[in-house]
Amino acid sequence: MKIVSVVGARPQFIKASAVSGELRKKHTEILIHTGQHFDDNMSAVFFEELGIPKPDINLHVSGGTNTGQVARMMLKLEKQFRELEPELVLVYGDTNSTLAGALTGRQMNIPVAHVEAGLRSFRMSMPEEQNRIITDAISSILFCPTMTAVEQLRKEGIERGVYFTGDVMYDAVLRFKDMSSGRVDYGELGVKPGQYNLLTLHRAENTDNKENLRGILRGVRNSSIPVVFPMHPRTKKALKKHGLENEISGNIHVIEPVGYLEMIELEKNAKRILTDSGGVQKEAYFLKVPCITLREETEWVETVEDGWNVLTGADENRISREINSFSPAGKQRNVFGDGKAGSRIVEILSEVEG
Ligand code: UD1
Ligand code: UDP
Repeated sequence: MKIVSVVGARPQFIKASAVSGELRKKHTEILIHTGQHFDDNMSAVFFEELGIPKPDINLHVSGGTNTGQVARMMLKLEKQFRELEPELVLVYGDTNSTLAGALTGRQMNIPVAHVEAGLRSFRMSMPEEQNRIITDAISSILFCPTMTAVEQLRKEGIERGVYFTGDVMYDAVLRFKDMSSGRVDYGELGVKPGQYNLLTLHRAENTDNKENLRGILRGVRNSSIPVVFPMHPRTKKALKKHGLENEISGNIHVIEPVGYLEMIELEKNAKRILTDSGGVQKEAYFLKVPCITLREETEWVETVEDGWNVLTGADENRISREINSFSPAGKQRNVFGDGKAGSRIVEILSEVEG
């Protein structure tokens, strides 16, 4: 089958690393990078490190409003799909690149397959929630990472074409976690393994809202151990815009975004992880590191139910309390599959084709 995969943002390169290799053994894949993420450390590094095939086409669409970004992507995707005539469009996750790929495919009557279907935060103001709901509604094949996601789709009346596959990010962690050892120069970072907290922050609700951003930074600076903070470009811009650069205290070690192997190594050896990222919450759980989520809700409810993740929102006091004390309360269940989600997705696509 001739499949066009559409990716564009950092987590999608990591997700595609679990699928593309397998996919190309049986099908013809054309990889389109929308250009949403473009800095070398937000894009190129993942293609180099993870052995993902280089994008066949880059649309160079980034920045602007969500509406403008999706619209510009769609116009360019329409042209590509017309020329390439794919039999299927494959999209990942919940970003603007996901929505643009899915909606363009649907409107051209090309079947769409969605990896990471059925996730919900139930906060419709999040662009990601809008992107997921629309993508799921118009996809023909829906690959769910958890049974919670399957059940959610059923509640929404979506049952046809739904498959539980497990989580492709679990595949990636299992594949790369040993390779990540030795990737971090702790001396240069000025911290010791096991004696730092790791912070990531980029969600629009936290970066675009000055109060939230300030609350988080003030909570985090109460950490009794150093905090390593690979800063997302969105957050860098937001700190400047809101005039909050002085809120970064001495115990926060800001670094540039890191590659995946370095990130996994930093996660493995963190005492606690603080994040508003979806992917990082899951990786904390997979690597058995306590996670403090800087949001009021999470799509990855199992990590909270199992006691390995606690939600603090952007509240300074809640963050200050948990950062030095949160300790997982329960045993982990096996809810994210068996680490073979990628090959299962390819098998299902091959069966559907037949
Ligand atoms: C996007 C996704 C979010 C995902 C995140 C992963 C949407 C609506 N949001 O958010 O779901 O969790 O990616 O990291 O799709 N920028 C750079 N260099 C880059 C990338 C971005 O400077 O390499 C800048 C952009 O120009 C823009 C800002 O960062 O000003 C935000 O980028 P954008 O891709 O619009 O959204 P993210 O916050 O990255
Ligand atoms: N990640 C990375 N380097 C960093 C920060 C994150 O490689 O500096 C990885 C992280 O390990 C995870 C993915 O990026 O696999 C998560 O992406 P992100 O937080 O940007 O987006 P989200 O998952 O929230 O959509």
